[in-house]
Amino acid sequence: MASPKITVIGLGYLGATHAAAMAELGFEVLGLDVVPEKMRKLEQGHAPMFEPGLEELLRSHVAGVEGSSGRLRFTDSWEEIGAFGDVHFVCVNTPQKHGEYGCDMSYVDSAVESLAPHLHGPALVVGKSTVPVGSAARLAARIAELAPAGAEAELAWNPEFLREGFAVQDTLHPDRIVVGVAGPRGEALLREVYATPVAEGTPFLVTDFPTAELVKTAANSFLATKISFINAMAEICEAADGDVVKLAEAIGHDDRIGRKFLRAGIGFGGGCLPKDLRAFMARAGELGASEALTFLREIDSINMRRRAQMVEMAREALGGALLGKRIAVLGATFKPDSDDVRDSPALNVAGQLHLQGAQVTVYDPKGMENARAVFPTLGYADSALDAVRGADVVLHLTEWAEFKELDPAALGDVASSRHILDGRNTLDPVPWRKAGWTFRALGRPTL
Ligand SMILES: NC(=O)c1ccc[n+]([C@@H]2O[C@H](COP(=O)([O-])OP(=O)(O)OC[C@H]3O[C@@H](n4cnc5c(N)ncnc54)[C@H](O)[C@@H]3O)[C@@H](O)[C@H]2O)c1
Repeated sequence: MASPKITVIGLGYLGATHAAAMAELGFEVLGLDVVPEKMRKLEQGHAPMFEPGLEELLRSHVAGVEGSSGRLRFTDSWEEIGAFGDVHFVCVNTPQKHGEYGCDMSYVDSAVESLAPHLHGPALVVGKSTVPVGSAARLAARIAELAPAGAEAELAWNPEFLREGFAVQDTLHPDRIVVGVAGPRGEALLREVYATPVAEGTPFLVTDFPTAELVKTAANSFLATKISFINAMAEICEAADGDVVKLAEAIGHDDRIGRKFLRAGIGFGGGCLPKDLRAFMARAGELGASEALTFLREIDSINMRRRAQMVEMAREALGGALLGKRIAVLGATFKPDSDDVRDSPALNVAGQLHLQGAQVTVYDPKGMENARAVFPTLGYADSALDAVRGADVVLHLTEWAEFKELDPAALGDVASSRHILDGRNTLDPVPWRKAGWTFRALGRPTL
């Protein structure tokens, strides 16, 4: 039997990676996005965002790129997508609604409405976007209404767990595959699609629709809780003059607790965790189960308080006033090895300082263009050294590897005063203090 042909709808962080990975696994893939510039970049084998290894993977497979397998192509025609695919992965964005906690499902709805009328034969539509529980059942009914193929057009839900910065690796070698299916045909097709990682030992879990949808939001809620837990401990350490870094190390030796995700700092951000927690709370409310998730409100508040605390630490370091002070901010993305600035704690802190009258200069290895688009009024420098030139205080807000390698003495020569605040607890205080800097970090004693 010929291997299933695959389409990928929505070519952002998730979809572009998924499309390239499917081609790498040997499938013929056709991608579609509603943003033409994104498609043009992809057609030339360029990644629309920075993600380690993605550009290389695209260039190995995008048709027309010299030496490529030619298995990955793009189109803006829904008709072509419908005619081509046996399996259609829906990877569009599901942002927070404006002014409320709930999830904006309009992009998913629109993708399904555009696709379904072009399903004339057997087809499996596979949702990968993170959606409120209950969406898959609603969308399955919509597909049944709109698809000329009738019951031969099925839906499955296959949540995605990739981490930006490791997206290619996570997509090709996932730690688990979860599929919510309506029947055996969906399961069989998805087993075929994921045969390679399953053969490598990746667990393949088959569930109903609601469980598959919930696995994703439950996983994100757990991770957010772990981060906010250690950040709450950082608040206590600040009040009691303890050291949260030592505390995390000590509790992490208990393997029921574990060391991962226990680094205190300015907290989580990005295009997923914050909006997913809020959408989960909103959905629980609709289901009459809001009490089960009221703790997530506290998780969210702890997280946002860390950003405010960073601003206060900067104010203190500057003697109580921000107005007219020069601040260097190292990092703009929500995490290293990504250019993603969506709900970035670093950029949020930089923005708050700027709005309170400081002159902020930001440097980030990959996120400058996106940061500038969101916050054009901040200053931007081409290197960490240039950002620090003339600064009254330096804030380390995204833990890029290159910031660990900075030379405190060289930066000290160009800074106006030697004050550094580590918002990520990844810099070693010893060389900084040796070079004459006052070094402070969230949740750590002043000296
Ligand atoms: N980024 C991650 O790390 C990650 C990880 C796991 C899950 N997710 C989930 O995956 C989904 C996508 O996230 P993302 O980060 O890739 O978002 P993104 O904004 O980078 O990409 C979404 C893409 O979908 C396109 N799109 C919107 N409406 C469309 C339509 N009707 N038809 C075709 N294309 C359309 C957009 O133009 C955009 O390119 C979200 O639900 C997110 O929560 C993301």
